[in-house]
Amino acid sequence: MMPRPEINGERLLARLDLFAAVGATPGGGVNRQALTVGDREARSLLTRLAKARGFSVFQDDAANLFIRMEGRDGSLPPLLIGSHLDSQPSGGRFDGALGTLTAFEVLESLADAAFEPDRPVEVVAWTNEEGCRFAPGCMGSRAFVEGKVPAEWEGLRATDDGSRFNDDRLATIEALAPEIGHRRLGFPVAAYLELHIEQGPSLESAEIPVGIVTGVQGTRWLEVLFEGQTAHAGTTALQFRRDPLKALTRGLAALYETVMPEKDDARFTVGRIAVTPGSVNAIPATASCTIDLRHPDTFVLDQLEEDIRTQLAGAAETESVSFFIRKTVDMAPVTFSEDVVAALQAAARTAGFKTRSMISGAFHDALFLAGHAPSAMIFVPCRDGLSHNEAEYVKPEDSVAGARMFLASVLELLS
Ligand code: GLV
Ligand code: MN
Ligand code: MN
Ligand code: MN
Repeated sequence: MMPRPEINGERLLARLDLFAAVGATPGGGVNRQALTVGDREARSLLTRLAKARGFSVFQDDAANLFIRMEGRDGSLPPLLIGSHLDSQPSGGRFDGALGTLTAFEVLESLADAAFEPDRPVEVVAWTNEEGCRFAPGCMGSRAFVEGKVPAEWEGLRATDDGSRFNDDRLATIEALAPEIGHRRLGFPVAAYLELHIEQGPSLESAEIPVGIVTGVQGTRWLEVLFEGQTAHAGTTALQFRRDPLKALTRGLAALYETVMPEKDDARFTVGRIAVTPGSVNAIPATASCTIDLRHPDTFVLDQLEEDIRTQLAGAAETESVSFFIRKTVDMAPVTFSEDVVAALQAAARTAGFKTRSMISGAFHDALFLAGHAPSAMIFVPCRDGLSHNEAEYVKPEDSVAGARMFLASVLELLS
């Protein structure tokens, strides 16, 4: 009789350490932003590990990376499992990497047990989930689902070094092309499953090891620009000033009070702010910021967006400056497949895990895959719910428990 596939916890933990060294930051986190040298190094490390195990490796035109274990019938659409390897500029070592390496550990544990699935199983590492270096986020999974890399992304400039998206995409693909195969975007998928850290405190505080994610809240990103007139800081009296920063701070101060009240599900974040010309003794010519707005309900998102536009326009009028606002991302909330969620619940019963059903506050590639194949996610607890921070931490036993749950779920979905 074949041995039952088992997670090798030590191997998984060693892999997490290995990848945490790629793009490591002095504060104990990683900076492996999408399509940078660090991201390429992580892709090439995963490729080496996969090839050493005899798996075939492919990439598509969005630089998504696939590792394939054959099934009895290779013509069936694969079960796809994975996450991402890119990070925030001062990111943690688990966001994305835990899901990708857990999926790879599951593939290895199936291979260790000489388990032959009926259909192929593929691990995926999606390109640019984070969206901080090139917006929008989840570029790889979007392009996959749309079956093409949208032309409007080609000229996008990176927020760090100004390089072009298309140049970085092609350089990333070319770096691995001699070693791995090519895959077309959007091939049929039987189901998609992703494990991720919760990035919030609820599992940890309730001491529940596994979250079964039934959906993802909606996200909108807005770019805001106020334009006034730069002038001398010492000589320009109040009535002659058209100060865009004053409009921006006035508008934001109002929004901080109204958009995200204490007892509501809305999330409002200004993560990037800039003024030009940026001189100590000149009134700014422009003041700009980004807004990240989230809520589980599209109707509420519409209302909040309207409110943001109205309040910022009002602040511009008060300060006699021009106002421009542009929506760069609109990710509608999504509900995951009832069938996959039921399979996860069955797997948790078999494997003996206490679970909680939850909606994800963060967006994930599964949000886009849900439009292509039945999908769902598993969350594991992280310390203090902290993420997008170098101090992000998952207890080793929680990583291993998550991987056991993930393996049980994969076996359930394959049965
Ligand atoms: C990306 O990781 C996000 O949810 O903001
Ligand atoms: Mn992530
Ligand atoms: Mn993230
Ligand atoms: Mn995310």
